[in-house]
Amino acid sequence: MQGWGTLLLPGLCLLGSFSCLLAAAGGYRRQVTLQFNPGTNVSSVNLLHVRAVGRNDTLHYVWSTIGAPTVLLLYTRSPSSALHVNWTKLLSASPAGAIWIEPPGSVVYSTAVVFTKVFEYNGANVSASSKGWEKQFYPAYDLAGFSWQNLNRTLNQTALTVTFQGVDTSDPGGAFRNGTISFQVTAYEQGSRDGHLPRLLHTANSSKVEFIMDKVAPRGNSSRFLLEVVTVEEKGRSKRLRSTWSIDDEFTPTIFEMAQLVSEPCNDSIGLSFFQWKTTAYGSKNASRENAIRCHYDPLQTSNRTLPGPSIVHAYFGEDLGRNLTVTAINISFGGEDGEVYAEKGYLSWSALLGFGVPPEDTFSPLVIAIMAVALGTPVVLLVAGGVVVLFTQRKRYSEYEPIN
Ligand SMILES: *[C@@H]1O[C@H](CO)[C@@H](O)[C@H](O)[C@H]1NC(C)=O
Ligand SMILES: *[C@@H]1O[C@H](CO)[C@@H](O)[C@H](O)[C@H]1NC(C)=O
Ligand SMILES: *[C@@H]1O[C@H](CO)[C@@H](O)[C@H](O)[C@H]1NC(C)=O
Ligand SMILES: *[C@@H]1O[C@H](CO)[C@@H](O)[C@H](O)[C@H]1NC(C)=O
Ligand SMILES: *[C@@H]1O[C@H](CO)[C@@H](O)[C@H](O)[C@H]1NC(C)=O
Ligand SMILES: *[C@@H]1O[C@H](CO)[C@@H](O)[C@H](O)[C@H]1NC(C)=O
Ligand SMILES: *[C@@H]1O[C@H](CO)[C@@H](O)[C@H](O)[C@H]1NC(C)=O
Ligand SMILES: *[C@@H]1O[C@H](CO)[C@@H](O)[C@H](O)[C@H]1NC(C)=O
Ligand SMILES: *[C@@H]1O[C@H](CO)[C@@H](O)[C@H](O)[C@H]1NC(C)=O
Ligand SMILES: *[C@@H]1O[C@H](CO)[C@@H](O)[C@H](O)[C@H]1NC(C)=O
Ligand SMILES: *[C@@H]1O[C@H](CO)[C@@H](O)[C@H](O)[C@H]1NC(C)=O
Ligand SMILES: *[C@@H]1O[C@H](CO)[C@@H](O)[C@H](O)[C@H]1NC(C)=O
Repeated sequence: MQGWGTLLLPGLCLLGSFSCLLAAAGGYRRQVTLQFNPGTNVSSVNLLHVRAVGRNDTLHYVWSTIGAPTVLLLYTRSPSSALHVNWTKLLSASPAGAIWIEPPGSVVYSTAVVFTKVFEYNGANVSASSKGWEKQFYPAYDLAGFSWQNLNRTLNQTALTVTFQGVDTSDPGGAFRNGTISFQVTAYEQGSRDGHLPRLLHTANSSKVEFIMDKVAPRGNSSRFLLEVVTVEEKGRSKRLRSTWSIDDEFTPTIFEMAQLVSEPCNDSIGLSFFQWKTTAYGSKNASRENAIRCHYDPLQTSNRTLPGPSIVHAYFGEDLGRNLTVTAINISFGGEDGEVYAEKGYLSWSALLGFGVPPEDTFSPLVIAIMAVALGTPVVLLVAGGVVVLFTQRKRYSEYEPIN
């Protein structure tokens, strides 16, 4: 028993430092407030301002469905910086300069993420022979042309959540007769881990967005969906796609990969943002391992892109997007080898985390650390025990031998 004690000790120390790490992640707090359409009583458009005040800085997230669903992430070195919106200008044909931060000099970093389109394709052969077949695409759903419900009704100041829910207004095939596409946003005051799958680890410097397709009728028997995500960086910076693998799937069963878009250069921590996701979606409101839908992503497209307007990106960064900004795009597709999960339930949910600073990284879970401690400890126990047994039997033999001699 004593032997086990000394062997478990390193394991417990590891566990101790792990919980210290967790505590550090959860330690930084921000005071978060959500405001719907600040400065106006117009309710035909949706703009949500998430203000997250830290010790001597403020993170502003501006979410909107003016144009395609978009989020601006603005980091300021001031605990009292304020968002201003000129609504007349914002709702006009040339919205450049309609959104700004006061004082202007306090902004040290800004970026944007835009969810532009949802594609649908026939996945029947794509899964089987992978790259051999060209995907057969149906006409894409342009999220900029959707009609979005007033989000004021979904705003929850306690849970810090809000839902942008939309339908395709043109909808020639009737796919949206019962269906909706939503973006559910959650803001965080401090670091922790989500209660439900994929159980992303978040910090006070991040927010979560959950992309949900609910009862949108597929246009074929083997339909797969693909979400196009466009990111915007100021000139001189760029996004890079990174992927991290772990042997540990304790929190997100069977998923070992975390993909993330990080901004570069990241010389000091200023100017670094991230957009990260686990390579899984779920085919039910009650996400579980059984209804997991594997996600794939294409390489980052960095070629010469522009962003169709109007949008809050134009309102904040100005009109001349191509010249002054770096625009990149990535496609994230859902499903393939896991069969017709979407067709069964008509539901798909995928989560991603957007934040400022260093992306949260999964360390080994306590269970895996314990298992490793035991796994590494057992041979030592056996070695020591073996040694003792050998010593004991040798001495015994010797003592048996002695009297005869
Ligand atoms: C969040 O941002 C603040 C201010 O930059 C920083 O001090 C803190 O370490 C960050 N927290 C995490 C968990 O990254
Ligand atoms: C949003 O809802 C709240 C109450 O739920 C109401 O007081 C407020 O006026 C609404 N804002 C707008 C812009 O409709
Ligand atoms: C919006 O507010 C203005 C004054 O700020 C008022 O004149 C107008 O009636 C309000 N509109 C609605 C729909 O409440
Ligand atoms: C922000 O606070 C940190 C310590 O909390 C300090 O090191 C840093 O200089 C402050 N930054 C500014 C711009 O005041
Ligand atoms: C808002 O924009 C309009 C149109 O560009 C302009 O006429 C007006 O002066 C602006 N208002 C403020 C308060 O800046
Ligand atoms: C799927 O593959 C079969 C042969 O395996 C082929 O006959 C069929 O045309 C393919 N369908 C599509 C949509 O590519
Ligand atoms: C807001 O969220 C909290 C916690 O999830 C929940 O208890 C409460 O009922 C929600 N409020 C509304 C108005 O939905
Ligand atoms: C919409 O739902 C109704 C009843 O729930 C069902 O009868 C109908 O077939 C559905 N329409 C589509 C396009 O899925
Ligand atoms: C879809 O499947 C049904 C039966 O499972 C079949 O009758 C129909 O032809 C299929 N449609 C297409 C477009 O493959
Ligand atoms: C970080 O990079 C920016 C340019 O992106 C540069 O202006 C700044 O001086 C660099 N900071 C450090 C500490 O190297
Ligand atoms: C980007 O595209 C435009 C035309 O669409 C072209 O004139 C320009 O040279 C391209 N720039 C680069 C860097 O490829
Ligand atoms: C874009 O950059 C040019 C210089 O590179 C500058 O003159 C122009 O004002 C910028 N446009 C906007 C809308 O910021």
